[in-house]
Amino acid sequence: MPAEVFFDGLYDLRDGDDVRRHYQRFAADYDAELLNRGYAQPDRVADTLVAAGVPLDARILDAGCGSGLSGRALADRGYRNLHGCDYSTEMLALAGRTGVYRTLHEVDLNVVPIAVPGAPFDAVTAVGVVGHGHVAGAAIAGLVDLLIPGGFLALAINELAWPEGDAKPALDELVAGRRLDPYDAELGEHIPGVDKQGWVVTARRSG
Ligand SMILES: C[S@@+](CC[C@H](N)C(=O)[O-])C[C@H]1O[C@@H](n2cnc3c(N)ncnc32)[C@H](O)[C@@H]1O
Repeated sequence: MPAEVFFDGLYDLRDGDDVRRHYQRFAADYDAELLNRGYAQPDRVADTLVAAGVPLDARILDAGCGSGLSGRALADRGYRNLHGCDYSTEMLALAGRTGVYRTLHEVDLNVVPIAVPGAPFDAVTAVGVVGHGHVAGAAIAGLVDLLIPGGFLALAINELAWPEGDAKPALDELVAGRRLDPYDAELGEHIPGVDKQGWVVTARRSG
């Protein structure tokens, strides 16, 4: 029988305990599993910050930073004031080894308001974090509250969780309530090696 890999059961995880156990189990294999399958979302999200004119010295929170692939993509573009948070101690330990984050914090993003030392930030990214048993749509309001007025939000969401999941209604409510400017959502590559596309959703906190 072939060895179990990170993607087995990933999209069937039901709750936070399941998700935590999954990352605890596969943390050491995560980078290779994702990179070997062409994980595209970290680069796509980092490119949206550049295109939006987010300055290289902006204070950026990489929410659900995992092992740091998303932070490394930002650092590759010259961003140097990076902060990360995640609720997996195993993934945070790997993020620390990348050397790209100034601070790292153990935080459950589903507990709103989200308490991250150093808030507010100029930009918040969440790459592969919202959806499929991970972080709920309701937490997006908490991410917006971590931004300065006019701050930039970039979410990378698997096609399985957008537009059908709870993220889109949550964002629509934030826009209707004038807490968030109207957002852009662009479909593109997510993890080509497991035949998944994904959305990159970007918006600014209303000023
Ligand atoms: C698919 S990984 C993405 C990691 C990184 N952003 C990347 O692009 O490689 C999802 C991450 O979300 C974290 N996560 C899931 N639910 C969370 C929660 N409720 N609070 C904080 N982190 C969470 C997991 O621990 C994991 O590190």
